[in-house]
Amino acid sequence: MGVPSHFKLNTGASIPAIGLGTWKSEPGEVRKAVAFALKDGYRHIDAALIYGNEKEVGEGIRDSGIPRKDIFITSKLWNTHQDDAKAGLQRTLDDLGTDYLDLYLIHWPVRLVANETSDLLPTNPDGSRSVDRSWDQSKTWKQMEELYKSGKVKAVGVANWSVPYLEELSKTWTVVPAVNQVELHPLLPQHKLRKYCANKGILLEAYSPFGSTGAPIMSNADIKRIAEEKKVSPATILLSYHVNKGVVVLPKSVTESRISSNKNAVELSASEVEALDKLAEGGNAKRLNTPLWGFDLGFDDWYGAAKDT
Ligand SMILES: NC(=O)c1ccc[n+]([C@@H]2O[C@H](COP(=O)([O-])OP(=O)(O)OC[C@H]3O[C@@H](n4cnc5c(N)ncnc54)[C@H](OP(=O)(O)O)[C@@H]3O)[C@@H](O)[C@H]2O)c1
Repeated sequence: MGVPSHFKLNTGASIPAIGLGTWKSEPGEVRKAVAFALKDGYRHIDAALIYGNEKEVGEGIRDSGIPRKDIFITSKLWNTHQDDAKAGLQRTLDDLGTDYLDLYLIHWPVRLVANETSDLLPTNPDGSRSVDRSWDQSKTWKQMEELYKSGKVKAVGVANWSVPYLEELSKTWTVVPAVNQVELHPLLPQHKLRKYCANKGILLEAYSPFGSTGAPIMSNADIKRIAEEKKVSPATILLSYHVNKGVVVLPKSVTESRISSNKNAVELSASEVEALDKLAEGGNAKRLNTPLWGFDLGFDDWYGAAKDT
């Protein structure tokens, strides 16, 4: 039995169930982390232009000696490139030092308009983010479809898309997104989104599986109890939760011992999965990644940030 090592995308391609996250992996550490992970058996790297470290990620990939064709590389179209996806992709390809991606995602269903304050995180004179709420996301998706047809990206998908946003896009898409990468863990199980994506053939990817920096969900009392009962670490429980549910999981670490142990998911029983599925009930749900542009994106469980930005 055991747990699956790979899942299938709706393109027919195979994707490794566990990929190394690279957000907040600093230049100087990320090169070593990526090279170590690949030598240690990882074959899936999750990158993004906005992480500001794709050059080092590319160096780490080359340092590993693993052939490009054996590695599944994902990157993401940043918000300020939504009006020119081709240029956004080229920047990423140049930085990574590769001529194709295995998966390219729209990072957020939000266009930011670059201005003299910044080309990536621009602000308005009043300090708010320069979000263009009038931008039609189907225009961005159309460009993604063209990139897919050009062969420069082997699959296209989205990140941070709620059911209403996917439903709107479905009216015009000619290529169904292969993936929706969202925050997902037992405290934010997103059951409705999961059902919707399963029905459409969109594979979910879980980001921030440990609750992001400092891994706060690992110290949740219920997670610790389930881990103790199973005689594995809380990290293993949090990773295995996704793999057992047919979801890709993207743990980030720059620490070799953690990178190594994070690739070992274990099989969970139906009752263990059910217990994890219910942890967020009764007002315990918690979203940890809440950038201010995230409001109004149709998630019914958006917490934390101020509404007027
Ligand atoms: N699409 C999006 O909008 C989006 C948003 C957020 C994240 N992501 C992707 O998802 C990836 C993962 O999410 P994340 O970076 O937010 O956080 P995460 O993977 O939930 O947690 C990372 C934190 O956990 C620590 N950690 C890792 N393994 C551990 C272990 N076995 N024991 C104890 N601590 C451990 C790491 O420390 P060390 O590194 O110091 O070891 C780091 O502080 C990102 O890197 C990125 O690729 C995508």
